[in-house]
Amino acid sequence: MAEESKILIIGGTGYMGKHLVEASVRLGHPTFALVRERTLASDPEKAKLIEAFRNSGVVLLYGDLYDQERLVEAIKKVDVVISALGHESPKKLADQVNIISAIKQAGTIKRFFPSEFGLDVGRIELMEPAKTQLGVKAQIREAIKEAGIPYTIVSSNLGGAYYFLRRIGQIEPMEPPTDKILVLGDGNSKVIFVGEEDVATYTIKAADDPRTLNKILYIRPPANIYSHNQLISLWERKSGKTFERIHVSEEEIFRKIQESPPPLNFGYAIAHAAFVKGETTNFEIDPLIGVEASELCPDVKYTTVDEFVDRYI
Ligand SMILES: NC(=O)c1ccc[n+]([C@@H]2O[C@H](COP(=O)([O-])OP(=O)(O)OC[C@H]3O[C@@H](n4cnc5c(N)ncnc54)[C@H](OP(=O)(O)O)[C@@H]3O)[C@@H](O)[C@H]2O)c1
Repeated sequence: MAEESKILIIGGTGYMGKHLVEASVRLGHPTFALVRERTLASDPEKAKLIEAFRNSGVVLLYGDLYDQERLVEAIKKVDVVISALGHESPKKLADQVNIISAIKQAGTIKRFFPSEFGLDVGRIELMEPAKTQLGVKAQIREAIKEAGIPYTIVSSNLGGAYYFLRRIGQIEPMEPPTDKILVLGDGNSKVIFVGEEDVATYTIKAADDPRTLNKILYIRPPANIYSHNQLISLWERKSGKTFERIHVSEEEIFRKIQESPPPLNFGYAIAHAAFVKGETTNFEIDPLIGVEASELCPDVKYTTVDEFVDRYI
């Protein structure tokens, strides 16, 4: 049997990256994580995570997005590179050009996954500040194509464990609401939620799959497509509570985006795109540019929205 490809994750200590590292190990790939020495020294929680990676067989490589020599050295050891740099710094997302040039220099990479893992930024209009924060991802797509690097873009829609499901679509409160729920718009647009572990599984499975080469991998698990109203009704059925639904007009959402401090303004801008404009579901996948993950990998038993809600009530 052919050996699984060697995978390097840059940003493996982050929210999404941790799942990518774990999935890569779970699926039997020789797994490498580029970690920053200063994080290891200064962040005890992340130091523990890095130790857990080491114990599960991950090869730790010290380096930094801004240390080109070490970046090239790390990339030369593997077949596939996955970036999971965070969106809080558009500059760092833009500086993935350093990874692109290291991949060019190494000359052996079979697949690059830039940091995406969200809405398809290539086709949607976002409100600020999300427009600037995530718009950089679209520029990176262009830079990858220009460089002629084999790639896969993962468009995984809204994170299942990210606050949208846990708080029943609420942006502001940290806990699930108890009596009133804000519903952006009419609450009828369909939205796709995907568990982070499943995003990672589909991503790693795509790494060696010729069907995902130079394509967008859309993750649209059929059981995870819910409108906000349906999601609230599901919670109501399972919890025995009834919520008062307070609809928020688009004008009021714009005001919230403008007046809320970061990262709430970002959260409202994403929620506006997904819950009001229906940007995760309002298009058909063009087979020339995209493929759907749950169709490609029917063997993956993904976590359903129903199961997530059971976890959170
Ligand atoms: N769909 C969704 O709902 C959803 C939710 C969240 C995120 N996302 C997307 O997922 C992607 C990853 O975001 P995230 O929230 O997981 O990011 P994150 O938690 O902020 O993690 C960022 C990672 O990048 C690493 N990093 C930062 N600066 C670096 C440098 N100079 N050199 C090397 N590594 C560096 C960090 O390492 P240290 O540990 O050393 O700091 C960390 O591992 C983004 O594209 C984001 O938009 C999607």
